[in-house]
Amino acid sequence: MTEKKDFDPASPVGVFDSGMGGISVLREMVRLMPHEDFIYFGDSANAPYGIKKEEEIRELTVTHVTRLLEEGCKGICVACNTATSAAVRVMRGMWPDLPLVGVEPAVKPAVLSMDHPKVLVLATPATVRQEKLHALIARYEDDADITAVPCPGLMEFVERGETSGPVLASFLSELLGEYVSAGVDAIVLGCTHYPFVRDSLASLFGESVRIFDGGEGSARRMRVLLDEADLITPSTAQGHVTFYNSVNSSDKISLCRRLLKM
Ligand code: DGL
Repeated sequence: MTEKKDFDPASPVGVFDSGMGGISVLREMVRLMPHEDFIYFGDSANAPYGIKKEEEIRELTVTHVTRLLEEGCKGICVACNTATSAAVRVMRGMWPDLPLVGVEPAVKPAVLSMDHPKVLVLATPATVRQEKLHALIARYEDDADITAVPCPGLMEFVERGETSGPVLASFLSELLGEYVSAGVDAIVLGCTHYPFVRDSLASLFGESVRIFDGGEGSARRMRVLLDEADLITPSTAQGHVTFYNSVNSSDKISLCRRLLKM
């Protein structure tokens, strides 16, 4: 077990996702904590996680987070809704002193944004299956009309770096067209890949639909945990972001950098 005394304020924060999606959370953390260093690991070789069994998602997540801790990370953000639901509870048991943040679909702010809104939660098939999302939706069922929609195939666009264009637009229209006709007030991005296709979703649903993303909330939570554990970096210089991916190609790393700037 890793003890609190093992963590060093000068060490990087580790960020994990099944692929490129967690960069939408990383960019919020960089904005909020510009002096911190970050190590981002994307497991694109095993993506998508959202169509795997819970057990396999948990094993992969624990393996990769263990490696980030071996690299010396002082805190971990599991920047993947699918991996958070499958593995974060187990990891809190394994490393009770570790500042550990997961991500959760921003259902609450979407529900509170207006009186009894029609809300769509877009997520991976695994997240839509998991009890965690059902419990979250059940909490607000009297205050909104909430529908969780699995979006198999959508994260792959982001993995390819295809964050706009006619092919994506027609994929979204085929997947979500029935909800556009029925009318929607708010969309919750329940997968960290989806903020990168936000503009295409806004074009499909129209400008009046409000889109909610939980990335900023997770970044804030990480800062609170680091602060409580006295682990905020003493550095006042601009921090560094180091990218690793299980698909070890320079194209993947360039795409990571491009997504971070988006
Ligand atoms: N980015 C991940 C999430 O937030 C999942 C994508 C996948 O691997 O299916 O759920």
